[in-house]
Amino acid sequence: MPQPHLLLGVNIDHVVTLRQARYRAMLESPNAEPSVLQAALEAEAAGAHSITVHLRADRRHIQDADVRLLRQSISTKLNLEMGNTREILDIALAVRPDFVCMVPENREEVTTEGGLDVAGQRDSLRATVKALSDNGTRVSMFIDPDLDQVRASAEIGAAMIELHTGTFANHSGAEREAEVRRLCAAAELGHALGLQINAGHGLTTRNLPDLWAVPHLAELNIGHHIVSRAVFIGLRAAVREMLTVMATYRD
Ligand code: PXP
Repeated sequence: MPQPHLLLGVNIDHVVTLRQARYRAMLESPNAEPSVLQAALEAEAAGAHSITVHLRADRRHIQDADVRLLRQSISTKLNLEMGNTREILDIALAVRPDFVCMVPENREEVTTEGGLDVAGQRDSLRATVKALSDNGTRVSMFIDPDLDQVRASAEIGAAMIELHTGTFANHSGAEREAEVRRLCAAAELGHALGLQINAGHGLTTRNLPDLWAVPHLAELNIGHHIVSRAVFIGLRAAVREMLTVMATYRD
């Protein structure tokens, strides 16, 4: 199978969403399925480069025990998405994921809605980035393709940015083209400032080719589409299908 230059982080939150829908109150039950670990191992077997999970303050899907189990068991990298709170930071410092992606978090949102306002919270984010980096974790900021946010991310010491592709994914035609131009400018600036450029949110095998105009992409984090496809073709095939499209990216 063709090897993409781009790395793929598979977000398996929604495998756990399914488990929680039925077994939230009886996670110890031998019937509690689907298994988060099996999902991670299937994704790895198909060629995923990392496993991404979002430990939310409301614990709506991934649980603390899931994160610890993944940390002990996966053979690729663990990428933990987290809001900037003391509680989750303490967990991240104990678990030591390979990567952390700092995200904004709203209790009412269905999924992460906008990018993080790094420019507006420099001091608290700088402290979090330092604590995590000193502990051996590379830190990314999930931001809208906004040049001030890119500059602020570099300034507070982040190693990476993950460009929010939600607006790109949810529009077509001229609006999508305009968003691609914003993504290009953000990627160019981030690269010039020494940041690794990642992207994620709403990406599918259908919309990825439109993203290929964006330079310097290193890693994509993709969840909903892969897990949705997995319902029909299985998780391994869904990850392979994504990697096949990703192999067509040329920086
Ligand atoms: N990256 C970040 C920071 C996210 O919050 C999410 C959604 O959890 C994703 C990537 C994956 O988005 P999607 O599930 O739409 O592929």
